[in-house]
Amino acid sequence: MCGVLRSSDAGKKAVLMGWVNRRRDLGNLVFIDVRDRTGVTQVVCNKELNPAIHEKASRLRNEYVIAAIGTVKQREPNTINRNIPTGEIELVAEELRILNEAKQPPFLPGDTVLPNEELRLKYRYIDLRRDAMQFNLELRHKVAIAIRSYLSSQGFFEIETPFMTRSTPEGARDYLVPSRVQPGSFYALPQSPQLFKQILMISGCDKYFQIVRCFRDEDLRADRQPEFTQIDLEMSYPQPERVWEVVEGFLSAAFKTAGYEIKTPFPRMSYDEAIRLYGSDKPDMRLPAMNDVREAFTAENFQALAVNPNLPVMAIRIPKVGELSRKERDEIKPLFTGKGNAKLFEDFKRLEKSFPDSAAKIRAKSSAETDDLIVIVAGDDKLAEHPSEGGVKPEVKQHDHAVYTAAGLLRVALAQKYASRHRLFEKTGNASVDFRFLWVTDFPMFEWDEEGKRWAAAHHPFTSPHERDMEKLSGGLDAAEDPNSPLAAVRALAYDVVLNGTELGSGSIRIHRQDIQRKIFHALGMTEDEARARFGFFLEALEYGTPPHGGIALGLDRIVMILAGAESLREVIPFPKTARAVDLMVDAPTPVSEAQLKELGIQIRKARE
Ligand code: AMO
Repeated sequence: MCGVLRSSDAGKKAVLMGWVNRRRDLGNLVFIDVRDRTGVTQVVCNKELNPAIHEKASRLRNEYVIAAIGTVKQREPNTINRNIPTGEIELVAEELRILNEAKQPPFLPGDTVLPNEELRLKYRYIDLRRDAMQFNLELRHKVAIAIRSYLSSQGFFEIETPFMTRSTPEGARDYLVPSRVQPGSFYALPQSPQLFKQILMISGCDKYFQIVRCFRDEDLRADRQPEFTQIDLEMSYPQPERVWEVVEGFLSAAFKTAGYEIKTPFPRMSYDEAIRLYGSDKPDMRLPAMNDVREAFTAENFQALAVNPNLPVMAIRIPKVGELSRKERDEIKPLFTGKGNAKLFEDFKRLEKSFPDSAAKIRAKSSAETDDLIVIVAGDDKLAEHPSEGGVKPEVKQHDHAVYTAAGLLRVALAQKYASRHRLFEKTGNASVDFRFLWVTDFPMFEWDEEGKRWAAAHHPFTSPHERDMEKLSGGLDAAEDPNSPLAAVRALAYDVVLNGTELGSGSIRIHRQDIQRKIFHALGMTEDEARARFGFFLEALEYGTPPHGGIALGLDRIVMILAGAESLREVIPFPKTARAVDLMVDAPTPVSEAQLKELGIQIRKARE
């Protein structure tokens, strides 16, 4: 391979095959850097030693595929290249073969400046030749192998589940596959193997895992792809802690293979606490928690500031940001995305002037150093006119929730903006220096869907509610459409694993009793008939001796993205799709022929705008 020869190999014969990375013509000497996925070696073609080879070498162009046969030679001290591992040697060519020519590529794998992403995706095979992409592919391979072998060592079997199946509700739209033999009927590609893995527990498999592709038609972002890979697992009879232990085990193995030791067990925090302290269910623990500083204000202060005294007043502290100029302080406001309920009181300086006592108390409560940035988010006093607390989230009341989450989003936006000053997000080599994992537990079971005017499953409908909340499920179909129903307060045995502000995975202990599963379907507004039509097979399976079971799924792409220090999943997926779900290389999706549509019994009604 092109990255392996060292000075200890001097004198040996070697054959190198790869791409022409660079060719330098110095007259009598032609130097060719030949590259494969392991690196680059310099090949020398000397006119005096071998005119035929020299002539051939002069014809080489970038990205030609060649074979060079020759003798490894120690380089002269003044020509050693310390930047590459093979830099102490070169191969003196005795034979050179052109295995294939190449057109001038639209960009070169060795270019230091990357072309735009569209071009990279269209010519992905050239993009993947780049070192960085080869590194990511190798990393992904190693992480997957480490996880597989860890889970196998713990008694998990990797079992495949179908891709052509029925809809599995995970909150996105389905990708459908039309059936030719049953015109008008469709398979759905799985949003996850959720029901199959539960049925595998009913089937006696005890411990299942799968590194599996999932398909979701949803709005795409940097950390979402329409097809992505989960590390999916399920086990019989676990407490949540047992599932967490397994996840901590395979994450340790995965991070170790990438060169990082992580500390286990991970800290744990309830959903309510996460919202109160971080304004997010996926808190970035590298930054300090927020503080409710309501008590720092007097009644007059609240009035003067037009701030609602009954709602939280959140102090966000970002360490070591230092003094901000007037202009920089003006740039804070546009970062605030809170709507209606929450308002930003960004100018702590002015607060210090007008209300020095309150400001001093806020500083003390936030344990702020002088060079820390403090920004306050509070509830708008206009809210006092709308005191209703529609029960969207249990415990954390709706309006409080709006203030917490607005502050939480601003906290992250500020931290990103000033990252170069506080350096908490620093990277060494590729990945973050500081991996802060967290288990977030006890999620709400339901979320009010404002558009559909009904309750929806916050995780998925197969998640078990807490035992103590079971009686809140008896409201049947009426409760399903009532925003103030007791469903608001039902907590689930659901948990997420979070790393540095990214949700890596989600799971839960499942419902294993058919009567409770039916109640949940009713709470979600499904009639008995609808539940039977959609999930009859599953309700039936639950009746044949279902062991208590639970599990989780983590996004493999997200894990590798973080380990690679990449900003987008596209950097760690060999053939990803764009934000419009298009594969630019193969040009998919595409229209299909009239004949194919006819065979499937499908008629296109109207091309979409
Ligand atoms: P959930 O829907 O939370 O849970 O998905 C689990 C994890 O999968 C990853 N993920 C994605 N990654 C990339 N692109 C996407 N579009 C995408 N969607 C999800 C995330 C997420 O945390 N069946 C349940 C798991 C269970 O209950 O066991 C499920 O799929 O990292």
